[in-house]
Amino acid sequence: MEAQQRVCPWWLGYTFINPLRKYQHNPDEILAQHIKPGMQVLDYGCAMGYFSLHMARMVEETGKVHCVDIQTKMLKNLERRARKAGYSNIVSSMLVGENYEPQKLEKQIDFALLFAVVHEVPDQQQLFNEIYTMLKPGGKVLFAEPPGHVKPGEFEVSIAKALHTGLTISDEKPALKKLTVILTK
Ligand SMILES: C[S@@+](CC[C@H](N)C(=O)[O-])C[C@H]1O[C@@H](n2cnc3c(N)ncnc32)[C@H](O)[C@@H]1O
Repeated sequence: MEAQQRVCPWWLGYTFINPLRKYQHNPDEILAQHIKPGMQVLDYGCAMGYFSLHMARMVEETGKVHCVDIQTKMLKNLERRARKAGYSNIVSSMLVGENYEPQKLEKQIDFALLFAVVHEVPDQQQLFNEIYTMLKPGGKVLFAEPPGHVKPGEFEVSIAKALHTGLTISDEKPALKKLTVILTK
């Protein structure tokens, strides 16, 4: 379990933003069905913002992307990339242990992305409780884990923690087939 919860090193963040990743994780295929202009969305465990910048494009000027990570270097790089892409006014970043305060976003979030992060979080129940707090009624979560790192049984245990908060499994079919689920409040 200890190994499962190790935080990925910050320098690995550069591999997550490799443009070739779109052939494995196409942001439009994965996210476009869930994100509309004007939405408030959350990218928890955003790293250097592979998904965050696409989310900013999708919510447009009237929406907001709230990005959370536990590593400063990830967020600094995300902020630089957001500035370069012209999304500084849409993307905001929050560091766990510093300015991440889920209560301030209570019932604000339309859509939350938890992509390849939950297995790194020591207290998954607390994370899902926070996600539940931040979601609007009817808000959605896309929860996906990397099949190479997380076993199906471990994914099921995490889902049980999500359901314990009151989230339910949606009928919507996620674009990714393995270790992915859509949850709703
Ligand atoms: C494997 S990376 C995935 C990054 C991103 N979601 C993606 O798919 O490109 C996991 C990220 O979660 C962050 N992370 C790990 N534990 C965290 C925690 N407790 N709270 C917030 N972020 C965390 C790591 O720093 C890292 O940036």
